[in-house]
Amino acid sequence: MSERLRGLARAKINLGLAVLGRRPDGYHDLASVFVRLALADALSVAFAGGPPTTDPAADLLEVVGRRPTEDPGQDLVLRAAALLRTEAGRPLPPLAFRLVKRIPVAAGLGGGSADAAAALALAGRAWGLVLGRAQRLELAARLGSDVPFFAAGLPAAWVEGRGERIESVPPPGDLGVLLVSPKAGLDTAAVFAAFDRLAAAEARSQPPRDAVPERAGRASGEAGAWSSTVGDLAAAMRDGNDLWPAAADLCPGLVELRERLERSLERPVLLSGSGPTLVALYPSGTAAAAAVRRVDAPDANVIATQAA
Ligand code: C5P
Repeated sequence: MSERLRGLARAKINLGLAVLGRRPDGYHDLASVFVRLALADALSVAFAGGPPTTDPAADLLEVVGRRPTEDPGQDLVLRAAALLRTEAGRPLPPLAFRLVKRIPVAAGLGGGSADAAAALALAGRAWGLVLGRAQRLELAARLGSDVPFFAAGLPAAWVEGRGERIESVPPPGDLGVLLVSPKAGLDTAAVFAAFDRLAAAEARSQPPRDAVPERAGRASGEAGAWSSTVGDLAAAMRDGNDLWPAAADLCPGLVELRERLERSLERPVLLSGSGPTLVALYPSGTAAAAAVRRVDAPDANVIATQAA
């Protein structure tokens, strides 16, 4: 490899997210429609120099656009490279990654997971390792619950289990996406812990099965096309994220921000993943971009993008 290898790590939104129950391993079984976005981090890699090694801490990462992780070894890019190196079980040249961050972090947009999937793919190419789909997804699942969706390389999917059961659904076509992402962010583990606390307080350990957003996932899979208009889709999904009460509990001002956005954008506003990113849907990326000026949210990143 004489040139840098480059890849895009695209973000996602969730259209509905049902929490079906807590598992013995502490994770939660989910059902959700994941839709990939054009918004992406840029990851590239070159050989760092130095002899081939089995040392899982041999690879380097430069990050542009956000503060580096306190312990660089915990960054998902380096964890992905270390995992692949260990799996290969033979000395491989040290890699130097460069990550340009554009996806807000701790936002419910899967940024870190997308980076991990991109790192797995680039490290594999750099080292000339060929992974089958099953092996790729298995390694991805070891890096994080959302990583298999990104490693599967699908524009849209019905996702179940902890995040490892992935079924392709047709992409939603032209779908503009306006993201309003409170800068404070939310820790995914804290949101799930708050979900458990709130569920216990309500003496209901599992939300009803009919909270599963079957409409977008199953219906589209069967019909071969998204049957809903953007407006119907947003209305159907608005209250389809079971993590909303937990995210609203942990993120001050989120309820008011959503109310304000729904008034100024004149459409339903959804929560993506564990939040706190709020999402409004449009018939095109251009329409989403035109709506940016209607958003008054000084403590949030406002980004117009589209399904991709
Ligand atoms: O898998 P990942 O490391 O991204 O998950 C972060 C945290 O979110 C987990 O430690 C867990 O607390 C929670 N989580 C969960 N159920 C999932 C995915 C994540 O409880 N399906």
